[in-house]
Amino acid sequence: MTEFANKTVLITGGGSGMGLATAHKLVADGARVVLAGRSEERLETAVKELDAGDRVLAVPTDVSRVADLDQLASRIEQTFGRLDGVFANAGTADFGRTADVTEASFDNVVGVNFKGVFFTIQKALPLLLDGGSVVINGSWLAHRGLAFTSVYAASKAAVINLVRTLAADLAPQGIRVNTVSPGYIVTDMFTAITNTPEAQEVCRSHVALGRLGTAEDVADAVLYLLSPRSAYITGQEIGVDGALTTSVPL
Ligand SMILES: NC(=O)c1ccc[n+]([C@@H]2O[C@H](COP(=O)([O-])OP(=O)(O)OC[C@H]3O[C@@H](n4cnc5c(N)ncnc54)[C@H](OP(=O)(O)O)[C@@H]3O)[C@@H](O)[C@H]2O)c1
Repeated sequence: MTEFANKTVLITGGGSGMGLATAHKLVADGARVVLAGRSEERLETAVKELDAGDRVLAVPTDVSRVADLDQLASRIEQTFGRLDGVFANAGTADFGRTADVTEASFDNVVGVNFKGVFFTIQKALPLLLDGGSVVINGSWLAHRGLAFTSVYAASKAAVINLVRTLAADLAPQGIRVNTVSPGYIVTDMFTAITNTPEAQEVCRSHVALGRLGTAEDVADAVLYLLSPRSAYITGQEIGVDGALTTSVPL
C-alpha cells in the first residue's frame, strides 16, 4: 500500500515516541516526512533509523518559539514546497501539586502544548494544500481529573477545544482538523513519570482492554485521520486509550 506516495507530512516531536512511530508508518507508505524537535541528536538518530534518504527532512525546532516555527516553514517550503498533513504532536509534561507549580513550569507547559500547537498550525497553513489534514495530539487527561496534572491537563483541553473552531475556520480551505487523545502509552514520557513496574501495573489495571498502549496504536489512528479515508471527519477527537476514559474494567 502506498497511500501516502508523494504526500508530505510535518511531525513535531518526530524524533521519538508517537511522532517517530507515525513517521515510520508514513515513510513505509511512501510519504515524505519533516521531523521537528529540539534535540539534534535525537533527530539525527531518527533520520538514520527511518533510512529513507531525501524523503526525510529533520529541522531542529522549539515549537514554543514562533521564530523557530517561521524557520521551519521556510525550510519545508525550500525543500518540499508544500505540505499535505501536519501531526502537531510535540508535548511536555511537568507534573506537580497545584501548590508547587512555578510560573516557569506553567509557561513551559502552556508554551509547548498550547501555544506551540496553535502556531505550528498557523505557520503551516500557507503550505497546506486543499485537502490537507491536521492532527493534534491531545490526552485522556483532558477528560478525567488526575492529581498532579492541572496545567498539563488544561493545556490538552485547550487544544482539543481548538479542533472544533479550526475545523470551521479552515474548512473553506479544504483543511480538516482532528485530535487523537492517547491513554497510557509506553513512550519515554510515560516511563519517565511511571517509572516502576508496580506503577505501570496500576495504570494497566484501569484499562478495559487490559494492556498499556503502544506508540504504534496511536500512529495507526493518526494515519487514518491524515488519509482521505477520513475525508468527511473534521472537528473530532478519537480516543486511543483502550477505553480508559469511558469504561470501568471488571
Ligand atoms: N505517553 C503517554 O502516555 C501520553 C498520553 C497522552 C498524551 N501524550 C502526548 O503525546 C505526545 C507525544 O509524547 P510521547 O508520549 O510520544 O513522548 P516523547 O517520546 O517524550 O515525545 C515528546 C516529543 O516532543 C518533543 N518536544 C518536547 N518539547 C518540545 C519543544 N519545545 N519543541 C519541539 N519539540 C518538543 C520531544 O523532543 P525534544 O525533547 O527533542 O524537543 C519529543 O520528541 C505529547 O504531546 C504528549 O503530551 C502522551
